[in-house]
Amino acid sequence: MRISLSFRLAIALFCGAPAAMAQPQLPAGPGKAVVEQSCLGCHEPIRIINAGYNRQDWQNVIHMMLNVGAPVPPDQVVVLTDYLVANFPEKPKPAPSLLGGSARVEIKEWVVPTAGSRPHDPLAYPDGSIWYTGHMANLLGRLDPRTGKITEYHPDTPSSGPHGLVADQDGNIWFTGNFAGYIGKFDPKTGKFIDYPLPDPNARQTMSSGTRTMRVAISAGSIPRRARRRSSPRRGGRIRRPTASSI
Ligand code: HEC
Repeated sequence: MRISLSFRLAIALFCGAPAAMAQPQLPAGPGKAVVEQSCLGCHEPIRIINAGYNRQDWQNVIHMMLNVGAPVPPDQVVVLTDYLVANFPEKPKPAPSLLGGSARVEIKEWVVPTAGSRPHDPLAYPDGSIWYTGHMANLLGRLDPRTGKITEYHPDTPSSGPHGLVADQDGNIWFTGNFAGYIGKFDPKTGKFIDYPLPDPNARQTMSSGTRTMRVAISAGSIPRRARRRSSPRRGGRIRRPTASSI
């Protein structure tokens, strides 16, 4: 069906106008300029306006953003924190669903060494340790739950945003370098990292799972893609981007 240009234009105007008018604004206040200068290079205002945290959690978010390079002048951190805490407080939690009977739950927490590292995706390793990625601090972490000791390992590629992770049958940790468009392999026995650049250097946002064949879903923006590679690849191995029918 052919649609005339003027009709299409009318649709575009009709769809676009209310959205543009509805854009919420950052409230006035002493920290507004700091947000505009330090945060809007990477985020739309709505990302901050829709957030809601208590003071401690805002401090953690600010640490994360500083770790990824938010240009907050050191003498403005307190002004920024006060502005965010005052204007975007924690939102009420959903009401619980109460179940009959008794239940016993134990939750133990370990504080990771690097503030604002945004620990991601705990992975239970066969030796009883727990591995995780520190998305915002370019690290892999290993927790020994028996002793509480946490060790951090930094990939050679700076600011690479380690995200999802899996272990293979040889004990290597594979992870997605979410900010730098690569898949990394870490050998805990040697402490060495190897990078496998993705065919599309702009590929971002990841999730991984795997057994013998490792599959990694990657999306650039909102477009999901998949790369598949055989396990135990040699250095410099190739990452294929298969078509939907070959997955
Ligand atoms: C250099 C880019 C960059 C800058 C500058 C930046 N951020 Fe972020 N921010 C990120 C990234 C990357 C994420 C994680 C995105 C994701 O996982 O979806 C994020 C996530 C967030 C989140 C969600 C946190 C969560 O746990 O889900 C909030 C809130 C946020 N940023 C607020 C801010 C504020 C406030 C500032 C200014 C002080 C700021 N950001 C500056 C890159 C940036």
